[in-house]
Amino acid sequence: MKRALSLAVLISGNGSNLQAIIDAIEAGELDAEIRLVISNIGDAFGLERARRHGLDARVLDHREFADRKTFDTALAQALDTVEPDFIVLAGFMRILGADLVERYQHRILNIHPSLLPNYKGLDTYQRALDHGETRHGVSIHLVTAALDDGPVLLQGSYPIEADDGVEQMAAKGHALEHRMYPAILGWLAEGRLTIDRGQAYYDRVHLQSPIQFSA
Ligand code: GRF
Repeated sequence: MKRALSLAVLISGNGSNLQAIIDAIEAGELDAEIRLVISNIGDAFGLERARRHGLDARVLDHREFADRKTFDTALAQALDTVEPDFIVLAGFMRILGADLVERYQHRILNIHPSLLPNYKGLDTYQRALDHGETRHGVSIHLVTAALDDGPVLLQGSYPIEADDGVEQMAAKGHALEHRMYPAILGWLAEGRLTIDRGQAYYDRVHLQSPIQFSA
């Protein structure tokens, strides 16, 4: 029998993406198992969400480590105990060092609230508004050592209406995110999406550009 996709989810805050993944698993829509949730923030609400669903939820407070390297080493040790197929960054606000990224090469996913390569980094909604953009979106990409820079696998977009501010954009973005993460994890679980030496294949066709999310 095919084994469920095993996941470790890293969070720093609200955990609404984590919740969307949990809900999809519990609804039988996603054949995956969350083996571990780690937050670098002790009072992140996402930890509470994880515990409510009986998940192993641990805190690794980066401030308790001398530097990024020792934090990353502790993170790797925790991750290794559960041997995840994929590490899912869901609002995890720490940059992972090159050694950690290398260790889990092509197995770390991140979700970012912009149409990458545009608007890497923080405050993407405000920056898009400041630039007078008429569309914005969400990207899910493989993590590399550079910030918000790895190959983009999936993108979804939405229009910015004339009256929209940061709040409206965030609402549209989150609604998309909550469908996109379960969707891409589902494709990985089913073997429709495969990653081979950093190259992505969807239905065995080499992806030359991100899959456009619609549904
Ligand atoms: C999301 O908007 C995601 O794109 C960004 O951080 C936010 C996390 O939200 N990387 P949540 O913690 O999943 O609610």
